[in-house]
Amino acid sequence: MDVTPLFSKMKRIIQHSYSPYSRFRVAALVFDEEGREFPGVNVENASYGLTVCAERVAVFNAITHGARRVRRVVVASETEEPVPPCGACLQVIAEHGDDDTEIVLLSLKSGVSRVYRLRDLLPVRFTGSSLGGGVDG
Ligand code: THU
Repeated sequence: MDVTPLFSKMKRIIQHSYSPYSRFRVAALVFDEEGREFPGVNVENASYGLTVCAERVAVFNAITHGARRVRRVVVASETEEPVPPCGACLQVIAEHGDDDTEIVLLSLKSGVSRVYRLRDLLPVRFTGSSLGGGVDG
């Protein structure tokens, strides 16, 4: 995929990051099975542990708007090296994506981009089928 158009898009989204405590801004953009796009930013809280990462905000935004599957998650930061999603976010992406879900990492500072698949970043994971029986919803 051509990541070039993503840089300007992610630069717009990251402006909405609410990160007064860490001053670490992150933007995420989920693409669903129809190519629809759902943005998210990290939203921090004075009670630090309540902070939610940009990736989870974007996935929950997608699900809220009727997305069925997460096909791609773009993550942008202003660090020299792009940052990958944290483990908790990978688990949430896995819930709504699959092994082939693309994880595109962008540095808005250096222009570096890296493209992975979910299987590269979370090769072994807990799933609904680990619970036995079906999972509805
Ligand atoms: N953060 C994200 O939004 N996504 C990541 O992949 C890593 C960390 C946020 C959480 C917190 O607001 C700030 O970055 C510093 O950890």
